[in-house]
Amino acid sequence: MVTGMTESHPKITKAVIPAAGLGTRFLPATKATPKEMLPVVDKPAIQYVVEEAVAAGLNDVLMVTGRNKRPLEDHFDRNYELESALEKKGDESRLARVRESSDLATMHYVRQGDPRGLGHAVLCAAPHVGREPFAVLLGDDLIDPRDPLLSRMVDVQEQRGGSVIALMEVAPEQIHLYGCAAVEATDDGDVVKVTDLVEKPERADAPSNYAIIGRYVLDPHIFDVLRTTEPGRGGEIQLTDALQQLAADEKVAGPVHGVVFQGRRYDTGDRGDYLRAIVRLACEREDLGPDFKAWLRSYVTEEM
Ligand code: UTP
Repeated sequence: MVTGMTESHPKITKAVIPAAGLGTRFLPATKATPKEMLPVVDKPAIQYVVEEAVAAGLNDVLMVTGRNKRPLEDHFDRNYELESALEKKGDESRLARVRESSDLATMHYVRQGDPRGLGHAVLCAAPHVGREPFAVLLGDDLIDPRDPLLSRMVDVQEQRGGSVIALMEVAPEQIHLYGCAAVEATDDGDVVKVTDLVEKPERADAPSNYAIIGRYVLDPHIFDVLRTTEPGRGGEIQLTDALQQLAADEKVAGPVHGVVFQGRRYDTGDRGDYLRAIVRLACEREDLGPDFKAWLRSYVTEEM
């Protein structure tokens, strides 16, 4: 059955956020704290990601957590002690900020157990998702809220069926850090058809410089494929390998398209990108930006 191309498209309402990785690039900060909880200015990275899902109309959020799941669950839960202390002080603005994260979305959690790869993390979402198309947002990938990507991907999936991935052009010497897509143009300027996918190819073997970034809208048939996907690169069950199978035969679950993203994106699991995200977002904040930018200017001119 061509599940991705049914006449009446079920509306996409569910978002899955894998956040069970080991975060080895950020050790020792991530020894006891998930990397998704590292603050970007004054919110943990994961809150931006949940806000992005909600902004795209996805209010049902399933987080795939690992060994350090407590801080993630606590962050999206009420904290009555803190709230009552702020209430007593009459600190309304901080009280609102504390409540913001618990009122955002309907949160669900599933435990991955062993972190056997992104594909395996997505497979853990199968019982919750059922047979509807759904979105996956990587918990350490931050898309600037002013550059909406997920809502465009949801539109493309609703128009074209199948699955939709997010792609970004990167310099050829960077492509070995990403999944890479072979593509064909479509009649939409920012949409390409994906014909093949390779996980972290050597520069010479890369079919293009289109890198996969951490947003997906997937046909539920991906779960059937993931159940039989063997561990690939790094001994992990790779989502890219399962998507490659969908792209290779569109009779199975509809086509795979890519939305080419040209906006601002940060990989908060990478130390350099994490620092850039903080500086940029802090500069743009109305409350912090003016003072911080003035300090940054003098720091750069005087000390660098
Ligand atoms: P990464 O490739 O960044 O891996 O995962 P990682 O283990 O988290 O980090 P490093 O490379 O060791 O520093 C991409 C996303 O997939 C999730 C991660 O939490 C991250 O959001 N993931 C990865 C899982 O949920 N489970 C896994 O088994 C692997």
